[in-house]
Amino acid sequence: MKIGIAGTGRMGSAIARRLMAVGHDVTVWNRTAEKARALAGDGAKVAATPAELAGSSEFVVTILTDAKAIDSAYRGRDGLLSGDVAGKLFIEMSTVRPETERALAADLRKKGAVMIECPVGGTIGPAKDGKLFGFVGGAVADVARARPVLDQMCRRVEHVGPIGAGAGMKLAINLPLLVFWQAFGEALALCRPLGLDPARLVDIFADTSGGPNVLKGRGPALAAALQGKDVGPITVDIDAMRKDLRTMVEEAKSLGTELPVTARALDCYDEAAASGLGKSDITAIPVRWMKLREESKR
Ligand SMILES: NC(=O)c1ccc[n+]([C@@H]2O[C@H](COP(=O)([O-])OP(=O)(O)OC[C@H]3O[C@@H](n4cnc5c(N)ncnc54)[C@H](OP(=O)(O)O)[C@@H]3O)[C@@H](O)[C@H]2O)c1
Repeated sequence: MKIGIAGTGRMGSAIARRLMAVGHDVTVWNRTAEKARALAGDGAKVAATPAELAGSSEFVVTILTDAKAIDSAYRGRDGLLSGDVAGKLFIEMSTVRPETERALAADLRKKGAVMIECPVGGTIGPAKDGKLFGFVGGAVADVARARPVLDQMCRRVEHVGPIGAGAGMKLAINLPLLVFWQAFGEALALCRPLGLDPARLVDIFADTSGGPNVLKGRGPALAAALQGKDVGPITVDIDAMRKDLRTMVEEAKSLGTELPVTARALDCYDEAAASGLGKSDITAIPVRWMKLREESKR
């Protein structure tokens, strides 16, 4: 199948490699053209504009930073919506608010295209291996049409409702995870006087109700961060997670509710970014808090 991918950042590149590995004819477009070059070397075609990408694809996958990036890639000059999109299926995978997905689906519908959303859980490794968790929103017939490709990208696909439902689910899943990283820094502040080896500490947490699933995958990176060692390639940086936390708070506001713990966690993430850690791995959040407490005692 001819699949176009707009946005070859960390996730888009990994998904492109996965879709090529299972035999699809993949064309990519990225705002910063150099970032698509490595994929061209691995066999992807490169489109000069989003409109050209849409014209040469049967399915189009987009996975972009935020609502602004979606607006630019779809509605900007030579954007996807200005291409030949009639009859095409779009799979929008960015982590954004439900209203962003609903507005986009309506614009595509006006042009004769259909869209489903599939924001995902899992990071670069699972994306390369086709082991993401997809939170799907869309019409039943459109999801059925996308299903073979969704199954090649994801280990589990949950169709949770119409367009917008997948976005809401993804934001909800990330909420306890992002609050956890700050909460873990606070737990470390309590553990400091025990003087335990960081790897042992992480292992104890991972085997109790105090540790979420993420410690299984990210535990070694966290232990390395606590020891001041290199955590390896950054899969998720603090700035990206500030975007997710802000999006959750905005979404809650629009629903007439509050997220007091999330809002306070966002303050802590913003402080971390202001101290120069915005592009650092997410594990810098708990490490920073532990160090802050240490420094304040001096
Ligand atoms: N990383 C993860 O583990 C992970 C996991 C699940 C979900 N997600 C979600 O997946 C999405 C992509 O994440 P990522 O980690 O792949 O981010 P990334 O590496 O920073 O890539 C972001 C992509 O968006 C593009 N972009 C940003 N602003 C744009 C604009 N104004 N116009 C056109 N393109 C624009 C970037 O293009 P340039 O290269 O030109 O900047 C790049 O292709 C985000 O919504 C994120 O929350 C990420």
